[in-house]
Amino acid sequence: MCGIVGYIGQQEASPIIIDGLRRLEYRGYDSAGICTLNGGEPQIYRAEGKLVNLENILRETPATGTRGIGHTRWATHGRPSEINAHPHQASNIVVVHNGIIENYLKLKERLKASGHTFKSETDTEIIAHLVEEHYRQCGDFEKAVRLALAEAEGAYAVAILCQDEPDKLIAAKQGAPLVIGQGQGEYFVASDIPALLSHTREMIFLEDGEIAIFTPDEMRITDMAGGLLTKESKTITWSPLMAEKGGYKHFMLKEIYEQPRAIADTIAGRLKSDEGDVYLEDLDIDDEQLAGLEKIFIIACGTSWHAGLVGKFYIEKLARVPVEIDIASEFRYRDPIVNDKSLTILISQSGETADTLAGLREAKGKGGKAVCICNVVDSSIARESDGVIYTHAGPEIGVASTKAFTTQLVALYLLAIKLGRVRGLLSADDCRKKVESLVALPRQLEKSLELDDEIEKIARDYMNARDFLYLGRGNQYPIALEGALKLKEISYIHAEGYPAGEMKHGPIALIDETLPVVVLVPRNATYDKVVSNMEEVCARGGKVIAVASGDEDELRDKVSALIQVPETTEDLMPILTSVPMQLLAYHIAVLKGTDVDQPRNLAKSVTVE
Ligand code: F6R
Repeated sequence: MCGIVGYIGQQEASPIIIDGLRRLEYRGYDSAGICTLNGGEPQIYRAEGKLVNLENILRETPATGTRGIGHTRWATHGRPSEINAHPHQASNIVVVHNGIIENYLKLKERLKASGHTFKSETDTEIIAHLVEEHYRQCGDFEKAVRLALAEAEGAYAVAILCQDEPDKLIAAKQGAPLVIGQGQGEYFVASDIPALLSHTREMIFLEDGEIAIFTPDEMRITDMAGGLLTKESKTITWSPLMAEKGGYKHFMLKEIYEQPRAIADTIAGRLKSDEGDVYLEDLDIDDEQLAGLEKIFIIACGTSWHAGLVGKFYIEKLARVPVEIDIASEFRYRDPIVNDKSLTILISQSGETADTLAGLREAKGKGGKAVCICNVVDSSIARESDGVIYTHAGPEIGVASTKAFTTQLVALYLLAIKLGRVRGLLSADDCRKKVESLVALPRQLEKSLELDDEIEKIARDYMNARDFLYLGRGNQYPIALEGALKLKEISYIHAEGYPAGEMKHGPIALIDETLPVVVLVPRNATYDKVVSNMEEVCARGGKVIAVASGDEDELRDKVSALIQVPETTEDLMPILTSVPMQLLAYHIAVLKGTDVDQPRNLAKSVTVE
């Protein structure tokens, strides 16, 4: 997803912008560009591909000046190319933009009819021309931006410069994220916090419909009509180092290894062992309402949806409330039967996923309460939900979600315990036992991480396979789906996850000696059944990589490879079996030489439908 960085102050803007864009690389992009102002014509440079291509251009012809805007583009309208890269210019106006202008074709026709000519295929260029047209008529940059944005429909975050008013930078937000950093005699804007952390920790989060007008000495935030707004800044405690690789080869590996810490942080302060209860500080829904719930919906996309599938097991088991789980892009269009006795749980690492946000609005619009499980403080989904359970995973930079997923499972488990308590289904003692199992989890995760070298060897043996099959039952089935997703997204190997019992209804036809089959077979209620499914694979020559718990030496003779994670409860086992799924995908991708942290065609934060 696109990244925006803007600067106005006393320093050279270009290095600040390039550094900020680099810290937004995790969002995924296919081209980059920058514009600075230094008293003359806007200095605009753009390049297809990675940031280094833009930097090479800037080394030859530096962009100078203390005001500037920059952008990394993830193509939506128009192919990835230099001509479609941002910034886009119309005469004296220069724009960078994240999002989609839905009525751009209509606006383009109108602008063309009044003599505007366009260079790119983008919707963004329309914004530049609209502002330019209004500026020509009213001669006031701020007013021209307001009038232009009033005509634009859709989701956007923009940063805009005007050659004739070089002491102003204007930014606006409608449906895509934008954060402001406050320095001494300088201001920054960016799509996300890590871009600004090395300059300031004082940040303001723009809301939809807000415009910020900066000069080097002053900032005003207004609504779209120009009404002045007062907004508090927040001090962000993430260190810049937290957003860096910290010595690991890839962000993904660092994030896999951060899981014991991330899970400990997600549990911290939430366990009330003496009372046998859990405490969810921002849930903001009273116990009476939780006790009266008749239905729960879980809505999410991708990996977060897999977490939701495990969450259904947790909630139905511990709190006996029926749970319906939907992929957000389906939920939002299926006219779901939501009412005031239902609770909708949105799960999103980024808190900005467009479909999940739309699902939240759909559920709330129908009169239901909605809470989210989210990793990014003050993200759109967190702000619009009635309550939040934050996963304290820290910034997740690798596109493939790892620590966000396992912390989501922990958050869901905490919520299920809370629901079980308020609904009278769990005693204080039951709760204490579950709390104990959670407390032991970080240590068990550390043990699972010790399997790393062993898993790398397995990866070497199977890296050339064309397809993989992942099988699991019960709460391990979502982990099979997650294992397959991890593998396909970073190694580009085709992989499918299946409920183990469903194999004989079709996928069994695929099995031969070339097909590795990852079977999740920890000790649980369906252990024997999964072992039988595994035997069916072996009998057909399939190569089984078994993921078991504890000492399962009798499995060793049957399978091609055996990975043994530590013991925990059946409920928490999906968290431990996730680790070999992540490591296997990671090592295969590294061996194949793919771009692990920024796999092709993927974006970290999917803010378009
Ligand atoms: C896969 C992955 C994606 C995200 C999905 C939802 O590794 O990261 O499938 O899980 O795009 O994103 P969030 O959780 O930010 O809503």
